[in-house]
Amino acid sequence: MEKFVIHGGKPLHGEVTISGAKNAAVAIVAATILCDEPCVLENVPEISDITICMKILSSMGAKVKLEKRNVVSFDTRGITKPEVPYELARSMRASTYFLGTLLGRFHDALVAMPGGCDLGDRPIDQHLKAFASLGAKHELKNGQVHCYADELIGSQIYFDLNTVGGTINAIMASVKAKGMTIIENAAKEPHIVDLANFLNSMGADIRGAGTDVIKIRGVSYLKGITYGIIPDQIEAGTYMVAAAATKGDVIIKNVIPKHLESITAKLRKVGVTVIENDESVQVKVEGPLLKTSLKTMPHPGFPTDMQPQFSTMLTLAEGTSIITDDIFDNRFKYVSELRRMGADISVDGTVAVIQGKGSLQGAPVVATDLRAGAALIIAGLAAHGTTEVENIHFVERGYECIDKKLQGLGADIKRVIVPEIDHVRMSG
Ligand code: EPZ
Repeated sequence: MEKFVIHGGKPLHGEVTISGAKNAAVAIVAATILCDEPCVLENVPEISDITICMKILSSMGAKVKLEKRNVVSFDTRGITKPEVPYELARSMRASTYFLGTLLGRFHDALVAMPGGCDLGDRPIDQHLKAFASLGAKHELKNGQVHCYADELIGSQIYFDLNTVGGTINAIMASVKAKGMTIIENAAKEPHIVDLANFLNSMGADIRGAGTDVIKIRGVSYLKGITYGIIPDQIEAGTYMVAAAATKGDVIIKNVIPKHLESITAKLRKVGVTVIENDESVQVKVEGPLLKTSLKTMPHPGFPTDMQPQFSTMLTLAEGTSIITDDIFDNRFKYVSELRRMGADISVDGTVAVIQGKGSLQGAPVVATDLRAGAALIIAGLAAHGTTEVENIHFVERGYECIDKKLQGLGADIKRVIVPEIDHVRMSG
């Protein structure tokens, strides 16, 4: 096990380059199963969720080769059995995407019920509803979902709620179905548009991605291409908030400013200066951070994946801030760890009330999920004294080289091996 040891109180200064988007990459890597020829992906982030996706493909018989840093070639023609190894599938949420992609190619898929960050109940009923609309049946057996169909016929899919994963799976299952599929109440996240662009570059016929109605005319063949994954809007937002929380001055490079609009707007509302350039943003703080109220929403609203980081920053503002995040049942698990650092936050269900006190004190804390871990790192960077963040494997699921990138901005952060005995004591 490893932990980060952070000596806080140093404003971040300099430039940081954003990697490829985790939530686009996990979908696009899974979608290579639909490709009838070899293809190459560029700007693939070096994160553990992607490593698992590539292990799943290789274990099923695909050829996956790291051509050079962040560039991977895929040849999935060798896959014959549409079954994902149980232990790999249950370790992350994105394994659900193998249901859609294997069903789309083989009309058959066997995948363990997904794992991933514990944010409360995360059912896949909408995914299964989309598959059923296309003519697929499913059964749950020994912790695995088996989806199968004689053939997939395009149809109308209406989602009862806004679901990123459900929309992605509906696209992948219908891209080679017979006829037209219309997805209504579709999610509009940038990673959905990126997946549609990837598939269309191979010869798919998908229109309306990024709006709430997506039309997909099934095609029979998808040719090989080289495709670059979009920059990660949440990684970028995390560094924007880290710059603000430490009252620094940072240029965040390789971003699409339009994907950051809701984050930029909220940062400006709390007194942070954000300067937008073509492919970068500059974030600096000249005065005090101000309180605000925030409600997370599906894109283009303020993203739930930025809530822990932004809430942490608000503990440093003066005054009372109200945060509502009801996209998941419980995305405030990190609050109890922030309290160890002196934060004054009360949580009632999906609402948190933050009494900003202007500062935090370093303490040993434990990451509970990916974005909670990022939030605790931000807290450590801003706090007086030393903070130790345990369970950094959560953070490494979605942030490429976060310690090195922060060191490049002047942060005093070190990766330390946790001796087994310490770890046992910590876990009590
Ligand atoms: C994706 O999760 C992301 N994960 C999450 O990012 C992100 O928080 C979420 O979208 C919302 O933007 C990946 O892309 C791998 P949803 P997903 O389906 O697809 C409920 C991160 O930190 N729901 O939009 O699981 C669900 O329980 C991760 O990078 C159903 O009820 O999210 C949740 O309350 C964390 N039934 C809400 O909808 C379903 O069939 C939104 O879920 C599907 C979802």
